[in-house]
Amino acid sequence: MAIMAVQHSPVLARESLRLLKVRPGGTYVDCTVGLGGHAELILEQLQGKGELIGLDRDRAALTLAEAHLRSRFSNFRLFHRNFKELPQLLTELEINGFDGCLADLGLSSFQLDDSQRGFSFRFAGPLDMRMDRSCGVTAGELVNTLPEDELVDLFRRYGEEKMARRIAAAIADRRRSAPITDTVDLATIVEGVKGRRRGTRIHPATQVFQALRIRVNDELSGLETFFKAAVDLTSKGGRLAAISFHSLEDRIVKNCFRLAAGKCICFKPAGLCRCDRIQRVRILTPKPVVPNEDEVRENPRARSAKLRAVEKL
Ligand SMILES: C[S@@+](CC[C@H](N)C(=O)[O-])C[C@H]1O[C@@H](n2cnc3c(N)ncnc32)[C@H](O)[C@@H]1O
Repeated sequence: MAIMAVQHSPVLARESLRLLKVRPGGTYVDCTVGLGGHAELILEQLQGKGELIGLDRDRAALTLAEAHLRSRFSNFRLFHRNFKELPQLLTELEINGFDGCLADLGLSSFQLDDSQRGFSFRFAGPLDMRMDRSCGVTAGELVNTLPEDELVDLFRRYGEEKMARRIAAAIADRRRSAPITDTVDLATIVEGVKGRRRGTRIHPATQVFQALRIRVNDELSGLETFFKAAVDLTSKGGRLAAISFHSLEDRIVKNCFRLAAGKCICFKPAGLCRCDRIQRVRILTPKPVVPNEDEVRENPRARSAKLRAVEKL
C-alpha cells in the first residue's frame, strides 16, 4: 500500500503548482489530499516553513497519505472532512484564511482501482461508490430502490445519458426478479441496452456509473457555496486552483470563478442581469489548462482534467 502512495503521480502537477505559486511561510489548503501527491509538492515548496492543511472524505486514503508525508515533513495536518466544511474547520483551528487552496475534484486512482469500492465497471465488486464509507447510501441501494422515474432523472442529470429511460426500464425489469448488487452486473444491463459502439474505448456504462457516483457522494451540491467561501478565505494575492474531470463540475468551477471576477454568468441583457459584478479575483486561466499528450499517454485518466485558477485581489 505504501508503495502505491509513493508511485502516485498527481494530475497536472507542474501546472497546478505554478498557478498556486506557493510561498514558504504561507498557509495552504489541499481540499482533496487523496494519496498526497499534490500535498507533497506543496510541502516541498513550503521548505519547512508555514503549514499545509489537508482534507479528504476518504479515511483509507488519508491514512496512506499521512504515513507517506510524515516520513518527509512535519508542517502539515490532515483531517477526515468534507471540504464543504472547510470554513467551519478553519474556525475550529483558529485559522483566519490561507494563501492558497487546491481542489483536485473527483476520484483518485486508489479509489477507482479497488474493486471493493465499486466505482469501476472494470472489476466485479459490490455497488458501493461511497468516498466516505462511514456514512451515506450506496449505489446499490439507489439502483435497487429508487423509483424508475427518479433513475431516469438521475442518469440524465448527472450522466447526461441520452438512453436514460430505456436503461432505467431495464434496471427496473431486472430488479423485479433479483437485486443488482454487482458492478459488472449493472454494467452488463447498461451494455444490453446501449450496445457497444465500434471505434470507441469508452464503455457504454460510463455515464450511468458517473451519475450514480455523483449522487452517492452528493458531489455537485454546495460546490458554489464552497468556492464562494474559499474566495473569501483567500488572502490578498493568494490563489485558488481547481481541477475537474467532467463538464458538470468544470461548468460550476468556471461560473464560480467568473462570478468572483465580477463577470456576468447569466448572459442576460444588462438591465435583466442579476450577477453581482463585484470583482474580487483575477482569472489566471482564461482557458482551462489541460494535460499534454505525454501526460495523457502516461496517465490516461488525466485526459479529461481541466485546471482553472484565480488570484485574490
Ligand atoms: C483526484 S483525487 C485527489 C488526488 C490528490 N490530489 C493526489 O495528488 O493524491 C480526489 C480526492 O478527493 C476526495 N474528495 C472528493 N470530494 C471530496 C469532498 N467533498 N471532500 C473531501 N474530499 C473529497 C476523494 O476522496 C479523493 O481522495
